[in-house]
Amino acid sequence: MQNDITALSSEFDAALAAANSATALDELRVRYFGRKGGLIPALFSRLKEVPKEQKKDVGDALNKLRDRIESELKEKTERIAAEEAGRKEARETLDVTLPARKPRLGHLHPVTLVRQEVEQLFREMTYTIDPGPEIETDWYNFEALNFTPDHPARDTQDTFFVDVVEKGGHLPGAPLLLRTHTSNVQIRSMEKWKPPVKVLSCGRVYRRDEITMRRSPMFHQAEGFVVDRGIHIGHLRATLEFMIRRLFGPDSKMRMRPSFFPFTEPSAEVDMSCIFCRGAGCGTCSQTGWMEILGCGMIHPQVLRNCGIDPEEWSGFAFGMGLDRVAMLKYDIPNIRTIFENDLRVLEQF
Ligand code: DAH
Repeated sequence: MQNDITALSSEFDAALAAANSATALDELRVRYFGRKGGLIPALFSRLKEVPKEQKKDVGDALNKLRDRIESELKEKTERIAAEEAGRKEARETLDVTLPARKPRLGHLHPVTLVRQEVEQLFREMTYTIDPGPEIETDWYNFEALNFTPDHPARDTQDTFFVDVVEKGGHLPGAPLLLRTHTSNVQIRSMEKWKPPVKVLSCGRVYRRDEITMRRSPMFHQAEGFVVDRGIHIGHLRATLEFMIRRLFGPDSKMRMRPSFFPFTEPSAEVDMSCIFCRGAGCGTCSQTGWMEILGCGMIHPQVLRNCGIDPEEWSGFAFGMGLDRVAMLKYDIPNIRTIFENDLRVLEQF
């Protein structure tokens, strides 16, 4: 019995040294003091086998061992709990002397910046901003804009069709499409609001084009138009000059070249003085000093009629401009892909 007590005593020393967590110490407590099979109670229950004359010594030794195990377990359990609390506190302590982390601010996309700039300058001229739908019917994208079904100008705007056909509408059974230009908004706005109207519309347009340096199957346009009594081409020119000077600087010049669009008559293409060489001639403008920037014209009488507006009483002008191209020119971005790839190293510069 004395031997068992000594053996248990040294077994405990080893086990205590090895137990370094609250759980391990708890397991030890169960091993030595557990109600069922605890080693100390087991030894106590064997006291009755001990011969009478040894009982006191053995009993004393057993009591000492029990007290020692109890107090050493308690002491180490408390120490480990204190250490753990210390580590937790260290983890949670706030070091108020650390420099603050800079918040990471987002950046607006260059096309968004240009769109906001264009919208702002037209808002100042009291235009209504009306983005219009991207999924459109043939009527609003083509027909009402004077593109007859086999009009050759449709070929220049190769169209993505959607797998859904018009239910009611102007051409029941005709497939819906992704608008090829923002000119659909002319018809939609003139339908919604009786003249006089002044509308600016910016948004995405889609064409079945390969991706190249200059082209992408999705791009952005700004469309502006005015319908009122007595509107003439002088109003158009003054408006465009105002816009170009605001976007590209007060010394920017513009010129109009005759052109053709089904929904305007007369029609013009507008060039502005090259922003890189200021008109002197350089590689970007093919030595001409000019770069093409938008299409425009006086709204065709048939288009007004298609919207229930009497062309004898009302007249209007319209223009359409590529916003991606404006962003590329303003920020000197040579490839349209750079605009749509959204590489953060590019976007962070704006
Ligand atoms: N919708 C034409 C296009 O995408 C651009 C355009 C030209 C719009 C002349 C106009 C305009 O409003 O008058 O090619």
